[in-house]
Amino acid sequence: MSEANKSVIYAAPSEPSDGASTSPPSPYDEVPYRSYPIEWTAPERLALTSLLHGGPRQSLGAYRMLELGCNDGTNLIPLAYYRPQASFVGIDGSTRQIATANDKRSSLRLTNVSFLSSDFRSADDDISGQFDFIVAHGVFSWVSHDNRDAMLKLCAERLRPGGLLYLNYNARPGWNVRGLIRDFLLAQTAHITGLAARTARAREIAARLADELAGAEHPYSRLLGNEFRFVGQNHASHTAHEYLAEYNYAYMRGEFLNLLAQYDLAPVADADFNYVSGRLPEGLASTLARLDVERETVDETADLLCYRQLHSPILTQCGFARRLPEPAELSRLVVASCLVERERNSADGTTLFTHPSGYGVEARSESIARALRELQPLWPRGLSLADAFSDVGEVVDDVRLLHRNGMIELRLGDDADANRDPEPLNRMERCWGDHITTSRHTVQTVTALDRPTDQSRSQGPCPPQSRPTVS
Ligand SMILES: C[S@@+](CC[C@H](N)C(=O)[O-])C[C@H]1O[C@@H](n2cnc3c(N)ncnc32)[C@H](O)[C@@H]1O
Repeated sequence: MSEANKSVIYAAPSEPSDGASTSPPSPYDEVPYRSYPIEWTAPERLALTSLLHGGPRQSLGAYRMLELGCNDGTNLIPLAYYRPQASFVGIDGSTRQIATANDKRSSLRLTNVSFLSSDFRSADDDISGQFDFIVAHGVFSWVSHDNRDAMLKLCAERLRPGGLLYLNYNARPGWNVRGLIRDFLLAQTAHITGLAARTARAREIAARLADELAGAEHPYSRLLGNEFRFVGQNHASHTAHEYLAEYNYAYMRGEFLNLLAQYDLAPVADADFNYVSGRLPEGLASTLARLDVERETVDETADLLCYRQLHSPILTQCGFARRLPEPAELSRLVVASCLVERERNSADGTTLFTHPSGYGVEARSESIARALRELQPLWPRGLSLADAFSDVGEVVDDVRLLHRNGMIELRLGDDADANRDPEPLNRMERCWGDHITTSRHTVQTVTALDRPTDQSRSQGPCPPQSRPTVS
């Protein structure tokens, strides 16, 4: 397909963006963390990203997955619920959070997931065998260096050869700005006893400063004002564990990769590459080329220019042979789209589609337009690329562009057991929190109105008390 024929994605029309028994008690026992399922940690999504970037191929049959720092099972429970063919193990040092995870597991009678209350330094004694997938979201930067080294040892020993490890971390240089806020809030609350009380005070101060700096003219003041506002936009448990935690270390990309190489682990791709958090601006490559920065600093320069604060890399053992996907592998992928046709321009033969997020896609080739028309009524189901397009090779760059920008979905076949009734899981999730999870591991927020009343709670598998919060 020629350059001129490639589809174009337009910006959305200005929508507002809106342990071990000897260990001391975990701060997560005092202030439990409010987690959400992380879409891109689903094994089929990790496997797809690996395939698209030439990494190791994964079978999605009876695989095993381990989550380190699994909290109260918020991420693992829906994964296990919709994927009965696979088995899942979660480890967390907070006995309170693991007790909650076990309550959820029992209420749904899940037999393919188990939760262990253990510190990373002793967890190896508690688990057996190797895992096809190991994930740790929001953990690596937030533990002491000896715990971090224990995590890496565990991952290196427990990841089966060719398996995938997902390990996200706070990234410098972008996180340095948030680090300023953390240093400030730590100093302001150092005299207060108890994490919950320190959290409440930190949120008060942050709110006041956000108001104070609102409308400031100086760009630095505005940057700080936005960061103080960000504190209040997140749950109080985020304030406690991001800003007031004893450990929070942000890594430069090179520093992280050098450390991982010591454990024979190398990067495959970023897990969130086709999500907003991981997407690079289209013009960045040419900006970097114009800047003529040192070759080995390109990634870190990109991080600096994009103000990236978090990385979500997928890794595997060093020395894997990168092998880009064969045409037959691409043809078997499933494509799904909810893009709605808006107008055809008979003068130039283009067709405009829109995404529910407000973004527009101009399809310049009739084969893309025809497939998008055919796919929309099937959503959230899709078709194999071979069924959707007569010549996959001709459209593959376009399809990948649309996928990278979150306009369509590519999947490795049927992601999960889409026939499983979501209601028992979703009822339990509504009881415990403010979201429900789909079979594709996407999250929908529920409002207070959708949450069960005390009466309906007694009819479903609900926890004995509502989830603790701090504010
Ligand atoms: C910030 S929370 C992240 C939870 C969840 N993965 C998420 O992203 O929402 C970090 C989790 O790691 C666990 N954790 C921290 N240090 C640990 C350690 N040394 N051993 C086991 N778990 C630990 C905490 O109990 C907590 O649940």
